Amino acid sequence: MSEILDRLNADHRNMSRLLELLEREYALLAGNGAPDIALMRDAMHYLTHYSDRFHHPVEDRIFDRAQDELPSMRELVGRLRREHYQLAEDGRALYQVLLEVESDVAVRRDVLRTLVDHYVRSQRAHMDLEEGKLFPLARRELDPNWWARLAEEVDAGRDPLFGHLLDQEYRYLRAALESPAGEV
Ligand SMILES: [Fe+2]
Ligand SMILES: [Fe+2]
Repeated sequence: MSEILDRLNADHRNMSRLLELLEREYALLAGNGAPDIALMRDAMHYLTHYSDRFHHPVEDRIFDRAQDELPSMRELVGRLRREHYQLAEDGRALYQVLLEVESDVAVRRDVLRTLVDHYVRSQRAHMDLEEGKLFPLARRELDPNWWARLAEEVDAGRDPLFGHLLDQEYRYLRAALESPAGEV
């Protein structure tokens, strides 16, 4: 079981680094500075293409099991499930707006700012709820044999940004993450 939860926790740490990066760019946006739109776009590309497609489906399996086995967790699971849906929607919307800014479509600064701020806050609150409530309860209450089966079944995907092999499309983002100030 710990193998799966360790992987999910590691994903959260990585996703938090991207949220910090988005927040730094947001501060520039809020202060009339020039945010690095390409960096924000790449961060949102990862979050919508990797996190939404590989991280969330693994958690969804835990939600399904918790909903069946642990009646006291139904409300929490229902909320987390709705948040997955909403985060995917919001993430796609933000990614789309960043693409528009890049192709010189006029987008109001305050619209972009609101989208970034909302996304960062809701993604953080969601991860906090999972780490603070769902994961500890699921670790304690769900059957070890079920965890072992899940570990064999899930496709956690190859992480194209934080994994051993870096996808070319994330070179710029990885360099920014590795530099002390988050700048390239
Ligand atoms: Fe989640
Ligand atoms: Fe998560």
